[in-house]
Amino acid sequence: MSSNTGLEITGVNKVFRSGGRTVQALENISLSLSAGKVGVLLGPSGCGKSTLLRMVAGLEKPSEGDINLNGRAVSQPGRDRGMVFQDYTSFPWLSVRENVAYGLRINGDRSALNEGTVDHFIQAVGLEKFANAYPHQLSGGMRQRVAIARTLANYPELLLMDEPFGALDPETRWQMQDLLLNVVRKERNTVLIVTHDIEEALYLGDVVYFLSRHPGRLNETIHTDFKAGLPEGDREAFLKSEDYRRLELHIRRLMREEGRDAA
Ligand SMILES: Nc1ncnc2c1ncn2[C@@H]1O[C@H](COP(=O)(O)OP(=O)(O)OP(=O)(O)O)[C@@H](O)[C@H]1O
Ligand SMILES: [Mg+2]
Repeated sequence: MSSNTGLEITGVNKVFRSGGRTVQALENISLSLSAGKVGVLLGPSGCGKSTLLRMVAGLEKPSEGDINLNGRAVSQPGRDRGMVFQDYTSFPWLSVRENVAYGLRINGDRSALNEGTVDHFIQAVGLEKFANAYPHQLSGGMRQRVAIARTLANYPELLLMDEPFGALDPETRWQMQDLLLNVVRKERNTVLIVTHDIEEALYLGDVVYFLSRHPGRLNETIHTDFKAGLPEGDREAFLKSEDYRRLELHIRRLMREEGRDAA
């Protein structure tokens, strides 16, 4: 894989200044996420995960450093990136089908409006039976699936997600994690996800970036190669594996050290 495919973050600093107060949110963050991989930003509250994701989305500018996606500099929001937020951002007055088509419409992509794309992604997230339902008729998990389908229907090169499953009950959360992995493997998206859930990070991520806080630094990069030797989608085998237990404990310790530093 050539070095300019995927996401490349180089020497990124972020300082917030407001009312005479300055906060260094991130310090000297460098990472590279290969195309087609799932990267996870993990770390304690306030370590700058959302800030970093928002900078990759182009919603916020680094104070220093560079962000490149597939060889192009990121300086503003763009169609090459799609963002899914924690609160289900669907429009209550539009049906599931209209919600999924909405992104295509605002992007002026008439060709995509042949409905094929819309139906494809409604199917990918398992909502065929609910295509004509309205968001208030859906559960939280289903609404989050609408948001994912709508974002993927734009074929973003990079899918960005900030704690997308944080508000879901544990069982639905597991289902959504599997659904996400199935869809992005099929569509070959590159994904960057924020979470503070260790199990979620290790289950979803090909690479887990552990950030420490004040200021947010990249403390450790963890590759989850051990999953290649496990049956795909077998949660129990994953949770039982020695590698998982070892890494989970290791990250738990890192989290605890962070807590001590804060106290
Ligand atoms: N717009 C802003 N103005 C000033 N400070 C900010 C702003 N946004 C974030 N910060 C500060 O930057 C730091 C990182 O915040 P951020 O929201 O990125 O953390 P996080 O890792 O996403 O936390 P959480 O897990 O609680 O969502 C915090 O100290 C926060 O107070
Ligand atoms: Mg956050």
